[in-house]
Amino acid sequence: MKVADLFKVEGYGVVVTGGASGIGLGFAETLADNGARVTILDVDRGRIADETRRLKDKGYDVRGAVVDVTDHPALDKAFDEAAKEYGKIDVAFANAGIDSGPGFVSAWVGENRSRVEAGAIENYTDERWNRVIDINLTGIFATCRAAARHMRPRKQGRIIVTTSLAAVTQEGVIGSAYMAAKAGAAHFMRNLALELAAYNICVNAIAPGFIITNIGGGHAHNPVTQETVAKRLPMHRVGWPDDLAGLALFLSSPACAYVTGQQICIDGGWGLGTAD
Ligand SMILES: NC(=O)c1ccc[n+]([C@@H]2O[C@H](COP(=O)([O-])OP(=O)(O)OC[C@H]3O[C@@H](n4cnc5c(N)ncnc54)[C@H](O)[C@@H]3O)[C@@H](O)[C@H]2O)c1
Repeated sequence: MKVADLFKVEGYGVVVTGGASGIGLGFAETLADNGARVTILDVDRGRIADETRRLKDKGYDVRGAVVDVTDHPALDKAFDEAAKEYGKIDVAFANAGIDSGPGFVSAWVGENRSRVEAGAIENYTDERWNRVIDINLTGIFATCRAAARHMRPRKQGRIIVTTSLAAVTQEGVIGSAYMAAKAGAAHFMRNLALELAAYNICVNAIAPGFIITNIGGGHAHNPVTQETVAKRLPMHRVGWPDDLAGLALFLSSPACAYVTGQQICIDGGWGLGTAD
């Protein structure tokens, strides 16, 4: 057998939360382009419609549904419908997430990095904390639970959680609820991997660094921000959703059969520190 055959996902039933934009859209497109049948779930009605249409026009087997990951019955129903359509769920990407607003400093790098009052712990509102935890942590739990309900009886599956470099390091420009949610999601992923290993279900995480997407209103599209951040990164460039495609395919595929409970950073070396 050729090793390349281990990366085949043709005919797989796949669900991606937060699949209408950025990283999730990249996962959906990668899997669909490799012959999988993909359902994208997202809270953004307009983007779901536009992206589903665009992907279908490319000839992909893609369907979309408007689902908020904080609405757990709706999430369960969407997984049930996808399973009915495909006869199974092979892969689930628990990916939907939001930015958490200001951190306690104002910029990623540079001389203008100053303290931000709104991001200070004394001013951090319950509402803001709860919203981020509801989506970025509890939403991951609910997505994984919905997937496991379909995968455990078949003793087969792949669950891929989008965490962040924020799960393994500290960054003051990012709000603390985001840091806590991502670290929690990473630890949850490992516990779930332990629980489901005996059922041939691999649970892993992709931890992106600085990837150009629409998160936080799309501030990363600003060329000045990109240039400033790129200077700090060991590979001297920011990342794009395409940079995650190879790992997404690997973690979805038979090639990943003996890999579980791992979090892999895709960050251009950012997590290593600063080089030059
Ligand atoms: N972009 C980065 O640099 C970066 C870095 C590390 C981790 N991440 C993580 O990657 C994931 C995807 O983010 P992205 O950067 O592609 O952002 P994005 O905003 O481009 O895409 C996120 C998608 O999730 C959807 N979404 C938000 N809240 C939702 C909810 N409650 N229910 C369903 N869908 C919801 C949005 O509508 C959007 O389509 C997030 O978990 C994020 O924390 C991103």
